[in-house]
Amino acid sequence: MESNERENSLQYYEKMFQNVEKDNIKIDDWLDKFINIIDDCKTPILDLGCGYGNDTLYLMNKGKKVISCDQSSNVIKNIKKNIPDVYDTKHFNMLDGLPFEDNSFQVIIADLCLHYFREKDTFMIINELKRIIVNGGYLIFRVNSINDVNHGAGKGIEIEPHLYSTTDRGLKRFFNKEDILYFFKGFEIEYLNEEIMTRYKLEKRLYRCLAKINKN
Ligand SMILES: C[S@@+](CC[C@H](N)C(=O)[O-])C[C@H]1O[C@@H](n2cnc3c(N)ncnc32)[C@H](O)[C@@H]1O
Repeated sequence: MESNERENSLQYYEKMFQNVEKDNIKIDDWLDKFINIIDDCKTPILDLGCGYGNDTLYLMNKGKKVISCDQSSNVIKNIKKNIPDVYDTKHFNMLDGLPFEDNSFQVIIADLCLHYFREKDTFMIINELKRIIVNGGYLIFRVNSINDVNHGAGKGIEIEPHLYSTTDRGLKRFFNKEDILYFFKGFEIEYLNEEIMTRYKLEKRLYRCLAKINKN
């Protein structure tokens, strides 16, 4: 069952990102709120689950070195084609852990890619994030809200609280504030807000979050 979920997700995104042109990259301004933290970052920035490369391009336009990561080989192929100056790319599945040394990054971006997992896998990935971010560093992320009714909230079979099995792309989790505090304990949550994103055809409700790691 679990291997099917993983394979379904991979196939869904391999198909979605079969051939992406540079025009498909749509930068939105959600990271502007954290620009001081991004400006101050001296290490390369990880763009986890980078997809089209929207956030990769945003960060590079701000002069940052970016490592674009994804499970999909097509995503990585398109990033190399459309954003050839990218600092680095890494092809891996977060379900296998994050292939980086301890304390490697001051800032990691995880935009709409941490909401596909069972509880045990979500905790494993968040623990990996804690391991590779330096003490005092930041995870900046967005996840589906439980109110994201245009994009599947409450639809399908609920296999864990707020985690749904979809017919096409494997699992999809929807968060409320309590879920975020539950999963991201060990981080100091400096900003958390439910917001509407208009980048898709139908508006999307999500949580935007700034989480600081305190390893002491
Ligand atoms: C909704 S897209 C978000 C893309 C981009 N971050 C953005 O916001 O435009 C989700 C991305 O996460 C990637 N992803 C999903 N599950 C993953 C996993 N287990 N390991 C690595 N990447 C994954 C998908 O391949 C896809 O590119």
